[in-house]
Amino acid sequence: MSLLFSKTNLGPLALQNRLVMAPLTRNRATGNIPNELMAQYYEQRATAGLIISEGTSPSPNGLGYPRIPGVFSDAQVAGWKRVTAAVHAQGAKMFLQLMHCGRIAHPLNLPAGARVLGPSALTAAGEMYTDAEGMKPHALPQAMTESDIKATMEEYVGAAKNAMAAGFDGIELHGANGYLLEQFIRPNSNQRTDGYGGPIENRARFVLEVADAVIEAVGKDKVGIRLSPFGVFNDMPAYPAMEADYTYLAQQLNARGLAYIHLVDHSPMGAPPVPDSIKAMFRSVFKGALILSGGYDAVRAESDLAAGKCDLIAAGRPFLANPDLVARWKAGAAVNAPDFSTFYTPGPKGYTDYPALV
Ligand SMILES: Cc1cc2nc3c(=O)[nH]c(=O)nc-3n(C[C@H](O)[C@H](O)[C@H](O)COP(=O)(O)O)c2cc1C
Repeated sequence: MSLLFSKTNLGPLALQNRLVMAPLTRNRATGNIPNELMAQYYEQRATAGLIISEGTSPSPNGLGYPRIPGVFSDAQVAGWKRVTAAVHAQGAKMFLQLMHCGRIAHPLNLPAGARVLGPSALTAAGEMYTDAEGMKPHALPQAMTESDIKATMEEYVGAAKNAMAAGFDGIELHGANGYLLEQFIRPNSNQRTDGYGGPIENRARFVLEVADAVIEAVGKDKVGIRLSPFGVFNDMPAYPAMEADYTYLAQQLNARGLAYIHLVDHSPMGAPPVPDSIKAMFRSVFKGALILSGGYDAVRAESDLAAGKCDLIAAGRPFLANPDLVARWKAGAAVNAPDFSTFYTPGPKGYTDYPALV
């Protein structure tokens, strides 16, 4: 009588179970183009109800990291078509996560002519990997002008339409983990003095305008968003108005009728705890589907679903290391441990070679 393994609907989409593969950047997209190896990796995991792709850039400016895919060229759309066809053949649905890295970037990771952008010209603390020169400090972003903001919004719209052309069932806006959309939401990275900075109504403007624009382009049933209230990853420190700000966001997103909100909790990875009260706030304010993630195993997933805390459960590292996670969790079988050393390295090792149960 498991809820986790029973069928459900996400808006008009029928899901074969309530287990979601969380978005996982794996840096196998050489040349920023999805390839056959990636199709194989996702196909192996397509017994999930829903797969959310790795963070995928809507534009050259958003590429940030080495070897992450985009969805702005014909070759990228063609590559993704192979992925969605392979996934659909196994019964899973698939959303594309649109991740514009903004200031979490280095020019060495960007194609010629691309720019590191952010709401304000403020460098994020910390370093990132580049293929050319190893670890480098994050770049100083250019503060986006109004025309940059318009152009970036159009890039999201073009990317959402491309995602549909590539066969995805929807898109997830990456509004979490310190990337561009969260850079606008948070006061430490957004110190603008125009209509996109200052009070939360202004700091939320960009993400809400992007949401409106992609909804207009592809329909609200095909748009979800990932948020990380109380998340500190990528130099996003806590601040006093956090809960009030995210309550405003929950209300605004609810008014737009998105398919789902997907909350991040990285406390199982050593980040500060995300208060239960904020998850409960999202549950009561937002009437669409709620996805919770972070440190789940089958028992905790079943228990949170049964308690009505959410509609779907997303798992990241367990899916990374177990292509047949659904079968293993169903059977109560042992799981493979993830190998951190191959999370972001090119090639099949630590990617498509995790063993399945025989
Ligand atoms: C290798 C790796 C890559 C990740 N890439 C992304 C990403 O592209 N987008 C995103 O929203 N979260 C990303 N995350 C976070 C995961 O989606 C998830 O929130 C996190 O792993 C916690 O869930 P877990 O305990 O089930 O692994 C990544 C995590 C890992 C370990």
